[in-house]
Amino acid sequence: MQVTISSGNNINGTLVLPLFEGGEALPEIVEGIPNALKSQINRVLADGDFKAKANATMTLAGTEGGKAMLVGLGKAEKADTHAYREAGATVVASCKKVHGNELTVVFHNTDVPCMTSFAEGMMLRDYSYDLYKKKDEDETNLAARINCSEGDATALSAAIDRAASITSGVHLSRDLGNCPPNDLYPMAFAEKAEQWAKQYDNAKVEVIDYEAAKRHGMGGLVAVGMGSSRKPCMVIFTLNGDQKGQHPMLVGKGITFDTGGISLKPGAGMDEMKYDMGGSATVFGTMEALASSGYAGKVVAITCMAENMPAANAQRPGDVIKTLSGKTIEVLNTDAEGRLVLSDGLWKAGTDYDPEYIVDFATLTGACVVALGHEATGLWSNDDDFRTRIHEAGNDVGELAWPMPLLPAFEKEMTDSKIADTRNLGAGRYGGANTAAAFLKQFVPNRSDDEDAEQITWAHMDIAGTYWGAKSNKMVGHGATGIHVRTMVRLITGE
Ligand code: BES
Ligand code: ZN
Ligand code: ZN
Repeated sequence: MQVTISSGNNINGTLVLPLFEGGEALPEIVEGIPNALKSQINRVLADGDFKAKANATMTLAGTEGGKAMLVGLGKAEKADTHAYREAGATVVASCKKVHGNELTVVFHNTDVPCMTSFAEGMMLRDYSYDLYKKKDEDETNLAARINCSEGDATALSAAIDRAASITSGVHLSRDLGNCPPNDLYPMAFAEKAEQWAKQYDNAKVEVIDYEAAKRHGMGGLVAVGMGSSRKPCMVIFTLNGDQKGQHPMLVGKGITFDTGGISLKPGAGMDEMKYDMGGSATVFGTMEALASSGYAGKVVAITCMAENMPAANAQRPGDVIKTLSGKTIEVLNTDAEGRLVLSDGLWKAGTDYDPEYIVDFATLTGACVVALGHEATGLWSNDDDFRTRIHEAGNDVGELAWPMPLLPAFEKEMTDSKIADTRNLGAGRYGGANTAAAFLKQFVPNRSDDEDAEQITWAHMDIAGTYWGAKSNKMVGHGATGIHVRTMVRLITGE
């Protein structure tokens, strides 16, 4: 969707009018609305037929003055940027044939951040995944214009351009997540990443293929991926690699399909396991958002790509594998595969680079969905202040990440193997999201080899409940949500 701005009063296509609950009749200052339409609007407001409750809409048509869609922002004192973002998304979700392809948004009593949020909500929601459907002949793209004062025009235009760039990263994450698993396998993801890097002079992608992964001793990645004819790989994205000094580091779980392996999952809903590469999509989408919005700092991201299949050459429960870190893992359940591929990704991130911090993303556990539903991502960190920063960055952009405990008792549970350094399964099913996080912590390196060296600042985000199926997420209609691209942009750029 193209969003442009205009400092005139002209209305093209359907008028979109965001309104406060309990507001009065349209003030005279809302200029440019034809009288016939204005009196129709004032009539529904006066009669109480449209109360402007948050995310309510009403379409008016049939007068000579043109068409309008009223959208509620809720009470004025509560209408923050989140309310505007949701209202913008609601408008796009409610668009039907009758509204045509052109919208003109007219605000009153609004500042630039709220107008930007509204535009962002419209852009985020304007997405559908129809690559595999017959083309609809008369389908055209929505275009929206925002009328604003001359004084706001420059700032609003720059802010909307930035939001459009970030939206391209969110939509890329969704495209990857929604792509069927027969077409999105590990090396297909790697090829998409290589293609992507060609657009940017300051972006680089390196692929560690199956043979190289075996040579390097990436035992976790290899064990999970070897049972599939589509072999595993690791993809490393670098943005502004010539910048010196410490930099943010992202790591993503990229299981392009999770059957469970020999510990096969039950059949119902197994198709949803195509989304098990959501962590890698979050990371890739974040790199796109940063690159396309012109971020100048250095960021490195690693995605651990594998397809978890049962096969004659698949790993088995009972196997002991040796990871890149040198630590061994007793594989007690092949369905706990995300932590195995991440063990190599986290170790590589902390030893081959000099990260200020590492954040990993993974659709890691069903237990996290049990704990938090689809409303919040689980968030663990070895640094309380850092965890708070991520929690706040998420709140700022309307993507909730909820603090969860990283406890020594959970770590103990995961190192209690009779024959290996660690085990990939907890003692029972309780606290399954926490034991998974504690397992990952074993593979976050220290800052140096000194005995008293600190562990690298690290956070783990379990997006099993939020990467798809989050019905209350107004920014998306169906499928992958593309969550946390915006959280990461906020954390990394501070904007
Ligand atoms: N990809 C799944 C986690 C998952 C399940 C995400 C449902 C979203 C919805 C993961 O690989 C997995 O299977 N985890 C197991 C771990 C268990 C065997 C310790 C789980 O959650 O059941
Ligand atoms: Zn699994
Ligand atoms: Zn999985």
